[in-house]
Amino acid sequence: MNELQSALQGIVPAEIVAAVAIAADKAECFEYVEEGQHLVNAVVARRNEFIAGRRCARAALSGIAQAPCALSADEGGIPRWPENTVGSISHSRGLCCAVAATADAVTCVGLDLEKTTRLSPRAMERVVHPLEASFVGEDQAKGSLLFSAKEAFFKAQFPKWGAQPNFKDLALQIDTVSEQMSVGEIAPHLPEVLREAAVRMQFRYRFLGDYVVTLCWLN
Ligand SMILES: CC(C)(COP(=O)(O)OP(=O)(O)OC[C@H]1O[C@@H](n2cnc3c(N)ncnc32)[C@H](O)[C@@H]1OP(=O)(O)O)[C@@H](O)C(=O)NCCC(=O)NCCS
Repeated sequence: MNELQSALQGIVPAEIVAAVAIAADKAECFEYVEEGQHLVNAVVARRNEFIAGRRCARAALSGIAQAPCALSADEGGIPRWPENTVGSISHSRGLCCAVAATADAVTCVGLDLEKTTRLSPRAMERVVHPLEASFVGEDQAKGSLLFSAKEAFFKAQFPKWGAQPNFKDLALQIDTVSEQMSVGEIAPHLPEVLREAAVRMQFRYRFLGDYVVTLCWLN
């Protein structure tokens, strides 16, 4: 958890606040009953990840002076962030994190935490754009980085523009020295407003153990 906290501290810009937590092993209660309605029948591990994710989200929101409040989800599972705020939650194997910012400072944000040891060669084939192939080769960790970055991009754009891009609709350019990325190409069939925003989006990432965490945001 400390490693994730440090990694996030290294990638969030000043206007974005991050928080981390570990999901409990034993069944926890929802902090706000109303926000967990869609998960009453879910397995304990999923409920606990949700609860820890919400805990992170409220901690991140407190960093931008937002008082604690319920964060319910819409029918698609997207958290309803308080007015004038944006944020994103991610979890993987009980490790949870969230970011938040004011909507004045940040237009949209997506956060994604992934294991780097799980992407099959077949899944890699679905994720990697031809322009990214020479960077990735057969390296599972690099493939996982692209997977994570594209998930972060998806989570940043979806609440605002509702687009459903495929992984290969995006070709990312990766700078492994600064650990930053940018959109090199985006498919022409996607909405013009998203295409225009995507090339201005910023990406930062860190590898930590067998995880990678990626942040994507637009000021
Ligand atoms: C929704 C999705 C992005 C979640 O990513 P994931 O790696 O499976 O899971 P994570 O733990 O990182 O994120 C889950 C959290 O994201 C948030 N979330 C769920 N749906 C979301 C959406 N449509 N937009 C933004 N955030 C969403 C929720 O907070 C959720 O956690 P919670 O239910 O506990 O609150 C993923 O399942 C998905 O549908 N991806 C679409 C395909 C894609 O990414 N394509 C990329 C093309 S460029």
